Amino acid sequence: MGGPFKETQVPANAPVGHKALAWVDDRFPLSKLWNDQWGKYYAPKNFNIWYLFGSLAMLVLVLQIVTGIFLTMHYKPDANLAFGSVEYIMREVPWGWLVRYMHSTGASMFFIVVYLHMARGLMYGSYRKPRELIWLFGFAIFLCLMAEAFFGYLLPWGQMSYWGAQVIVNLFGAIPVIGPDLSLWIRGDYVVSDATLNRFFAFHVIALPLVILGLVAAHLIALHEVGSNNPDGIEIKDNLDADGHPVDGIMSHPYYSTKDFFGVSVFLLIFSAIVFFAPEMGGYFLEYNNFLPADSMKTPPHIAPTWYFTPFYSVLRATTADFMYVLMAAIAAYVVFIWLKSRLAYKTKIAVAVIGLVLIVGMLPQVLDAKFWGVVLFGSSVVIIALLPWLDHSPARSIRYRPDWHKYVYIVFALCFVTLGYLGTQLPTPAYTILSQVATLLYFAFFLLMPWWSTMGQFKPVPTRLTFTPH
Ligand code: HEM
Repeated sequence: MGGPFKETQVPANAPVGHKALAWVDDRFPLSKLWNDQWGKYYAPKNFNIWYLFGSLAMLVLVLQIVTGIFLTMHYKPDANLAFGSVEYIMREVPWGWLVRYMHSTGASMFFIVVYLHMARGLMYGSYRKPRELIWLFGFAIFLCLMAEAFFGYLLPWGQMSYWGAQVIVNLFGAIPVIGPDLSLWIRGDYVVSDATLNRFFAFHVIALPLVILGLVAAHLIALHEVGSNNPDGIEIKDNLDADGHPVDGIMSHPYYSTKDFFGVSVFLLIFSAIVFFAPEMGGYFLEYNNFLPADSMKTPPHIAPTWYFTPFYSVLRATTADFMYVLMAAIAAYVVFIWLKSRLAYKTKIAVAVIGLVLIVGMLPQVLDAKFWGVVLFGSSVVIIALLPWLDHSPARSIRYRPDWHKYVYIVFALCFVTLGYLGTQLPTPAYTILSQVATLLYFAFFLLMPWWSTMGQFKPVPTRLTFTPH
């Protein structure tokens, strides 16, 4: 910055592209941005398949925005016209069916890709210092993505759109004092109606996409500031060559550009197979009830959110009045455990005991009902993911160098998450409810006991250089 403007001298016979680039670079840091963020970004050379999902998430984000723009050209955000306009897109608009199926399939694929992306972070400890902010930006993206999917699901104005929104907005009603007014404020009416549809449309097509794009930019800037983690969970920046580049690093371009291109090709094959042959995916991607127009007078017998919300929805449903006593006992046990096992300061321990006591008293049926706590647990089951950087105290970042039994802990956690997800799609039965309660307890135990279990066991020696076999 500053100083007189100096034009880069390009040989007169240089290709016109070079001249144009030099002209732009003198006025805007195009090459610098490209090189900093990708071209000369040194990434660990041992990335495996798990490292594809970040770029795939970006691809799906672009697909969703592009297909969304075309859908908006024909969609009508009006309670009387919305359902018909989607049918019109499917039947009359040239290629409308393709655009719509790409968008609806893209929504589910987004969550599959992002869940796998998060699982990678969990396995390799990618959220650990100094990558806490990458994780927090990612978590904020995840929250926005959930809101984006929820708002979008109302737009086709089918039975499940309508009743799903009704159920979720009513959850806010369980908050003491302000709850009923809050639900009214969100809906803009006493029931889900045209006013609700209009505001959900505004959030879905512009507000949230803008926020998500901004957060993705922040996510990547933070990543490229500290550098990528890798399957070994060691810092490549600790071993630099004479030029100051990591010895175990390779330039993202062309090495990871080509690898990502391959990943994108495989992904697009799978994506196309779903779009062309199974866009409803057995009712998981597009629910059958949503092919019926919304009817405020007819509640469907079984209202379930789309599959990507069901793990958290199951936690909500698991919180029955009986389960509250189990929760109270669990909180009491946790407080005792902290007093006996943690090295927290005495004052902090007192604070923990007071919070525990307040929670237990609040859980008494005479104070706040199970419905309220269901909403609290539902919210907590999402928010707790953000705390991982501070819960994991393991001396080794990556699962590779942790005690073998840690792998089983992760497997049990993954099974709990999938079980909760499955149960959330099913009608509750007494057996299913008990199963979801056990899975809920294990889900929270995984996080809340992590400060202890993550340090336990026989750790393997962590190498100083990446393990990499050329292929
Ligand atoms: C729209 C959604 C998202 C996009 C487009 C995105 C994009 C990316 C990209 C391109 C990378 C670098 C390549 C890679 O490591 O795979 C990355 C890394 C990372 N992302 Fe995301 N991400 C998204 C959501 C999330 C979420 C929800 C989380 C966690 C809550 C998350 C956590 C991380 C972490 C910890 C890394 C660093 C990984 C490492 O260095 O080992 N991301 N992300």
